Amino acid sequence: MNLGVKYLALCLVAGLVACKSGERYEEKSPNTKMTATLGIDQGQIYYEVTREGHPIVNKSFLGFKLKDAPDLASGFVLKEVVHTSFNNTWQQIWGEVLEVNEIYNEMKIRVEEKGGLQRYFFITFRLFNDGFGFRYEFPEQKNLTDFVIMDELTEFALPSNHTAWSIPYDIESYEGLYRQTAINELDTVNTPLTMKTSEGLYLSIHEANLTNYAGMNLYPVANNKLKVYLTPWSTGEKVFMKAPGNTPWRTMIIADSAGDLMLSRLMLNLNEPCRLEDTSWIKPGRYIGIWWGMHMKKYSWHEGPIHGATTANTKRYIDFAAKHGFAGVLVEGWNKGWDDWRNFSFTESYSDFNLKEVTEYGAQRGVRLIGHHETGGNVDNYEAQLDSAFEIYQKYGVNIVKTGYVGTLLNGKEKHSGQFAVRHYRNVFEKAAKYHIMIDNHEPVMPTGLQRTFPNLMTQEGVRGQEWNAWAKDGGNPPNHTTIIPFTRGLAGPMDFTPGIFNFDNTAMPGTRVQTTLAKQLALFVVLYSPLQMAADMIENYEKNPEPFEFITSCPVNWAKTEVPEAEIGRYVTVARKDRNSDNWFVGSITNESEREMRLPLHFLDEKTTYEAKIFRDGKDASYLTNPYSIAIEETQVTADSVLMIHQAKGGGTAIFFRKTN
Ligand code: NOJ
Repeated sequence: MNLGVKYLALCLVAGLVACKSGERYEEKSPNTKMTATLGIDQGQIYYEVTREGHPIVNKSFLGFKLKDAPDLASGFVLKEVVHTSFNNTWQQIWGEVLEVNEIYNEMKIRVEEKGGLQRYFFITFRLFNDGFGFRYEFPEQKNLTDFVIMDELTEFALPSNHTAWSIPYDIESYEGLYRQTAINELDTVNTPLTMKTSEGLYLSIHEANLTNYAGMNLYPVANNKLKVYLTPWSTGEKVFMKAPGNTPWRTMIIADSAGDLMLSRLMLNLNEPCRLEDTSWIKPGRYIGIWWGMHMKKYSWHEGPIHGATTANTKRYIDFAAKHGFAGVLVEGWNKGWDDWRNFSFTESYSDFNLKEVTEYGAQRGVRLIGHHETGGNVDNYEAQLDSAFEIYQKYGVNIVKTGYVGTLLNGKEKHSGQFAVRHYRNVFEKAAKYHIMIDNHEPVMPTGLQRTFPNLMTQEGVRGQEWNAWAKDGGNPPNHTTIIPFTRGLAGPMDFTPGIFNFDNTAMPGTRVQTTLAKQLALFVVLYSPLQMAADMIENYEKNPEPFEFITSCPVNWAKTEVPEAEIGRYVTVARKDRNSDNWFVGSITNESEREMRLPLHFLDEKTTYEAKIFRDGKDASYLTNPYSIAIEETQVTADSVLMIHQAKGGGTAIFFRKTN
C-alpha cells in the first residue's frame, strides 16, 4: 500500500466501442467544453482540438521518421477506439496544494499500417477541463521491436500568430531570459512554451512523464505551425526505442487567465502515482547554504585560504540554522575535485572539512547537512561512484543531495535534454530513493512532473536563478524575469531559484546585482514554488536584518491551497498560499520594473474570522534602481471582507502573512 498517495475517490468507466476502421474519432473534456478529434487524411494521422467551438489546435499531423526502417508516417487506418472516463482525487506528499483532482476522458485509438509490415501503435488522448495530453504507445509486435526514431513528426498547428514567451533550445541548461515574440518569429525553443491568444486565452505546450526518451523542443514550420524537435544524441539519432514503450505525453494547458495556468495540475496528472513504498522520510524544508559566498568570490569552492566549506564555517552555519529553524545547511566545496571541476570525488573530503564531525554537530542541533554532488558534467565519473557516494551520505544522515552538471555537454558530448541525460537523471533519483535521499537537481533536463511518481525528486534548477545576479555579464536578472518564469519554467515543476538576497552590493562583478527591492526578495518565497527553499544569502546579511528575515523564517514550503488573485505575464503576479500545517495564509506579490498598486481582496481567508496580517512592503522611497533596501513592516487586523491596497515600487513586491488571532 502506498502510504504517500491516498485515493479518496476513484471511478473508472471503460467502454470498448466496437467499430470497423473509421476516418475520425472524437472525445470531449469532462465539462464538454473541449473536443479532440483524431482522424486519417490520405493515410496520415492528424488531430484537432476545439474549445467552445473555437479552434485551439488546427489539423496537425503525427508520426515518426525511423532509421533503417520505413517511416511510421503514412499508409495508416484507424482500427478501434476505447473510450474511458476517470475521476479521482489524490493527495500530494508535498506540493502547492494537498488535493489534486484527476478528472479526464480518454480515447485510445489503434493506428495500423494498411499493408506492408502492418505495424501498429496506439494514440491515447486524455482530455481534462484545463487542457489535454496525448502520447504514442508501441505494443510488443513482430515487426516493431527495437527501433530508432530519427524524427518525431508531431505538430501543433495554432489558429493564429499568438504571443509567446520562450527561451531558445540551445541556451545552456535552460538558463536564459524569456523573450516575448509572435510564434512565427520563434527559433527552435524549449518547452514549456506559453502563449496568449488575441482573445485573451492562455496556452502552454509541454510534455509530461519524460522517461527513456529525448526532451521535446518546438520550431515553426509554416504559418502558426510548430513541429516537435527532439534533442538528438551526439551521433544524430533522437531516440532508441523498444516496444513495448511509450513516448512522453505531449501536453497543452488551456486557461482563461494567466493565474489559471499556475493552478493547473495537468503535468502531475499525466504522470503515474507514487512508486515509493515508504515516503515517510521525504520532508520538504527550508535551508541555508555555504553558497552565495562563493558566487560573491568571498569564499572558494576549492581548498585554500578562503575555502568556504570548512568544518568551522559549516558549524557556524549550523548554529545559525538551528537558531532560526532551518532544516538544513548546504555545503558546496566539501569534497575533492574543485580544482579542475571535472574529476570529483564524492567520498573524499578536503582536509579542512570533517564530514563525521560536522554531521554529528548538526544532528545534536536538529540540523542536517545538505550534500552536494557537482559533477562538472562528467557523468561517467559520477555513475562509477554513485553507490559509494550515497552510502557515505546515508551513513552520516545526509538525506538531501544537490546535484549539478555544469558545462555544455555531459561526458563532453551529450546534451542535458537528450535521451542519454534523461536516463542518467532518472538513474540518480531512483537510486537516491533506495538510500532515502531527496534530490535537488541543478542543470537538469526540463522537469515533466516525475515528482508525482518519485516524490524524492524534490526540486530542480533549469532556470536562470539567483546566481546570475552574482556574475552575469549582462547586469543580472532584469525585474520582469520573475514575473515571467512562474508562467513558463514554473509550469514544468518546482524551481530551485534560491531567493532571499538581502545585500545588494556585488563584490564579484561590478555593474551586476540583484535587481529587486528587499520586499520583493521576500515575496519570491511565496511566488516561486519549491518544496526545498533556500534562503540564499550569507548568514551575516540576515543577522544584520532580523525584521525582514522574520518573513523567511515564518514562510512554509508545503501548502494546502494555492490561489492566484492577479497576474499578467511579464508585469505582475500575486500568489496566496495556505500552510499545510496551520490556518495561516501567506501572500507574495511582485511587479516588474514599473511601480504599481496591488489590490488584494482577501476572500481566500476564512469568513467571519479576524486575522493578524504582518505586511512587508516597499518603503515610500524604495526602488530597485536607487533604494532597494527601503522596506516598511506593519501589522494590521483584517477579515475576508478586507481589501488591501499596497504600493509596489519599481522592481518591488509585497510579502504578507496572515495569522488567525485566536
Ligand atoms: C551551478 C549551480 O546552479 C550553483 O547553484 C552551484 O553553486 C554551482 N553550479 C556549483 O556547483
